[in-house]
Amino acid sequence: MKFTIAVLPGDGVGPDVIKEAQRALETVGQHFGHEFVYKPGFIGGISIDKFGTALPEETLENCRKCDAVMLGAVGGPKWDNPNAKTRPEAGLLAIRKDLKLFANLRPVKMLHMLENSTSLKPEIVRSVDMMVVRELTGGLYFGKPQKQWRTSRGRNAVDTMAYSEKEIERIIRVGFELAMSRRKKLTSVDKANVLESSRLWRQIASEIAAEYPQVKTDNMLVDACAMRLIQNPSYFDVIVTENMFGDILTDEASMLAGSMGMLPSASLADIPSGNNSRAFGLYEPIHGSAPDIAGMNIANPIATILSIAMMLNYSFGLPNEAMAVERAVLQTLDEGYRTKDIMTEGTKQVGTTEMGKIISERIKD
Ligand code: IPM
Ligand code: MG
Repeated sequence: MKFTIAVLPGDGVGPDVIKEAQRALETVGQHFGHEFVYKPGFIGGISIDKFGTALPEETLENCRKCDAVMLGAVGGPKWDNPNAKTRPEAGLLAIRKDLKLFANLRPVKMLHMLENSTSLKPEIVRSVDMMVVRELTGGLYFGKPQKQWRTSRGRNAVDTMAYSEKEIERIIRVGFELAMSRRKKLTSVDKANVLESSRLWRQIASEIAAEYPQVKTDNMLVDACAMRLIQNPSYFDVIVTENMFGDILTDEASMLAGSMGMLPSASLADIPSGNNSRAFGLYEPIHGSAPDIAGMNIANPIATILSIAMMLNYSFGLPNEAMAVERAVLQTLDEGYRTKDIMTEGTKQVGTTEMGKIISERIKD
């Protein structure tokens, strides 16, 4: 089959890791007989430098014509001035909103050979295998009003956490659909003891839970969830939560897997359906642009390579190809190859390119 992919490397290590993910994808194409056509585009700081905007209309149009989007990372100290008219991150928020990518899937899995790379005890992280579903186009990030203003008594600022029934319902459904294909356990996370939007969230979560009697469901307050993630992380199967709670909890959860450099993500515009999903989506590592190591052949490409496995799964309906990529990553780690971020005694350190090549060589049908 033939697929068209918008490729937006962005800033910092973005281009380094995207290159290795494309290498892996090419290998998949050769072994399984698919053709991947790449449409490059600009986003983030590099786009601000070139066009004065973090997300040019041309990039959006390009993405809309493709079957999926691959993204590296955005941001860097060069564009960090708080008084700047626009920031690289604005491009990321705009592309999510414009392409209606409301469902952000962030799997967090401890791979046994990395047990000693985390700061937690191996017995705590050993069986961590969860999927965090973060709402991505609503809540505090996008609610209006969102502004700063002055009065005679000083400066003021407001952000708004707003959710409609429709927005809550569709993301909760994504959570339940994923739970059905996993261990059939779902935790809906909110702050219903304080926030009105969370009380609506909890009501709707309970209503939809009634449609999925096979799934064991609970509601958890976000502060308690933050604690449980450290105390007993293997408690969780699927977590579903609003935009900002999901942002914070996934940085925390990423530490359970050893390194940010290991974690992929998918941002989908549709509810994924079983094994042959063809949801439109954007795929990116959850780590940032790491400008201090950009271009130095140090960054871990595994998060991006695992993101293309998610792309094969959720946007192209190719679960066997996705598994081949995941198997190649596991085999590479089993053989002891490590990038600097996951290096431990007795393993072999390799650079970004070597890691990409070794993984690609291990992709087989
Ligand atoms: C993430 C990032 C972004 C977010 C930033 C870069 C805007 O932290 O994808 O988690 O807050 O959503
Ligand atoms: Mg974040």
